[in-house]
Amino acid sequence: MSDNVIAPSILAADFARLADEARAVEGAADWLHVDVMDYHFVPNLTIGLPVVQSLRKATTLPFDCHLMIADPARWAVDYAAAGAYNVTFHAEAATDPLAIAKDLHAAGSRAGLAIDRDTAVEGYLELLPHFDLLLIMTIKAGFGGQAFMPELLDKVRAARRHVDAGHLELRIEVDGGVAEDTIYACAEAGADTFVAGTAVYGAEDPAAAVRKLRAVAAGS
Ligand code: DX5
Ligand code: ZN
Repeated sequence: MSDNVIAPSILAADFARLADEARAVEGAADWLHVDVMDYHFVPNLTIGLPVVQSLRKATTLPFDCHLMIADPARWAVDYAAAGAYNVTFHAEAATDPLAIAKDLHAAGSRAGLAIDRDTAVEGYLELLPHFDLLLIMTIKAGFGGQAFMPELLDKVRAARRHVDAGHLELRIEVDGGVAEDTIYACAEAGADTFVAGTAVYGAEDPAAAVRKLRAVAAGS
């Protein structure tokens, strides 16, 4: 569990060449982070199920689907059925998070719970034994390319204390503004899973950018 996971976000990739962009980080990245936005939970619109289904056939990378959608109870399980390795939905959009986690596990996927910028983590710590991953936003969800907010790492520290004290098998993922100059602070705060969009796909060589992020996260 302790090995770091680097998950490039295809939100920052060229959407006309998604298969190529996914393959560009194969062998370097651990997961591919797929941001699904529905124009309701967040003001932005990205990709949905048909694109995930097609892309699934185009790469060997496990998919880390991040659903920024208003009705995860309706849709989350379809992403599991599409072959996602992990499906994360937002706490703010779920009336019964445990039911969705149960559905995801039954459909063969891991389940992640996401906490947006303005949501305190404390109210959700007790749910964590039912999840495989906790995603703590380090920006306000909705758009790539935003500035990292270091004050949100307090939530990562609180989650890490809780996870370690309870010996939970849970990854702590950070998402938003994660780059060479911010990833070490995230790791130090207790994150072990790192989403990076602009820092990977804005780079000349995305695979090299992933390797560099991994090295910096490990403190070298
Ligand atoms: C934004 C998404 C992020 C986004 C991060 O709401 O959840 O995954 O792609 O992009 P960067 O790394 O550019 O901040
Ligand atoms: Zn994301």
